[in-house]
Amino acid sequence: MRLSSCHNFHDFRRIAKQRLPAPIFNYIDGAADDEVTLRRNTTAFDDCDLVPNVLRGVADVDMSVTVMGQKLAMPVYCSPTALQRLFHHQGERAVAAAAGKYGTMFGVSSLGTVSLEEARKLSGGPQVYQFYFHKDRGLNREMMARAKQAGIQVMMLTVDSITGGNRERDKRTGFAIPFKLNLAGIAQFAIKPFWALNYITHESFKLPQLDTHVDMGGGVMSISKYFTEMLDPSMTWDDVAEMVKHWNGQFCLKGIMSVEDAKRAVDIGCTGIVLSNHGGRQLDGSRTGFDQLAEIVDAVGDKIDVMMDGGVQRGTHVLKALSLGAKAVGLGRYYLFPLAAAGQPGVERALEQMRIEIERAMKLMGCTSVDQLTRQNLRFRR
Ligand code: LAC
Repeated sequence: MRLSSCHNFHDFRRIAKQRLPAPIFNYIDGAADDEVTLRRNTTAFDDCDLVPNVLRGVADVDMSVTVMGQKLAMPVYCSPTALQRLFHHQGERAVAAAAGKYGTMFGVSSLGTVSLEEARKLSGGPQVYQFYFHKDRGLNREMMARAKQAGIQVMMLTVDSITGGNRERDKRTGFAIPFKLNLAGIAQFAIKPFWALNYITHESFKLPQLDTHVDMGGGVMSISKYFTEMLDPSMTWDDVAEMVKHWNGQFCLKGIMSVEDAKRAVDIGCTGIVLSNHGGRQLDGSRTGFDQLAEIVDAVGDKIDVMMDGGVQRGTHVLKALSLGAKAVGLGRYYLFPLAAAGQPGVERALEQMRIEIERAMKLMGCTSVDQLTRQNLRFRR
């Protein structure tokens, strides 16, 4: 299957599955426990229908939005995701460059495999730095200073990962960074020669955001161990309030779900929140960002930028979220499978398809700008 025959999320996912060693594919594709929340993230969009208006003169559509002080050419952005170099040797470089080309924002993770400074140089788009709160306060301070120095526009603290989610696919495959494979694992890598060749012939795996402070324990650390051992489970709103002050710029919390927390985020001076369940990878059975949007927008939407992510695979999903009041929508697996399938051209093709789908759907909805999308355009079936 070639890139030119990829027309949607599922096509890219299929190629990624062919290319990637099974432990890596399942790390991206999988989620916590029974993966109920993973599935719900996407099916939630099907609980409501778009109600179009017609005959409104839709020759020119402007889909740009302003969020967290950043002007984006399209209302979606590439959420920060970890370990991209494992998925394709271009890793974060591909995503940074593709996001820049499409005039949108992208994130570099604390667990990124390219340095935030290098990513900054590769992209004209605004950059988010995804931050985990570590037990090592020195590391936290150093990371923030580095991000400021590099010209990062938005600080995004992930607050839903205070301990590792129960990812049973990773337990079965032994997924860990870097790899220490058992025999079954070696077999999985041996049957994916293209991936193995690319991995071996390009620069070695690194975690440049962390490597000054983190001892990878002789080479193996699972993601769940990282969350459990490195991150500080005693983190409170007071700690974050201090960080917000210290950063003194655009600061958002990723992983908010309750109205109460949304209000607290406003109180401590955050400028944005992302309603997110971490792609279903943390608390299975959690509510979805989409299901929770309306009540959070009603509570704090005039004080703070409300974004959402999780399960977004179509332009119409984005339109539904925008109609409920989201300022922008984050993409994760939506661009990761294309990255795995084809590197930068894959990510670009996926973003182009999303752009075309949003434009088409806006025209069919009778809207020429994002602010014309309101709850009048949505009906829930219940
Ligand atoms: C994950 C973390 C690293 O979901 O964001 O795997």
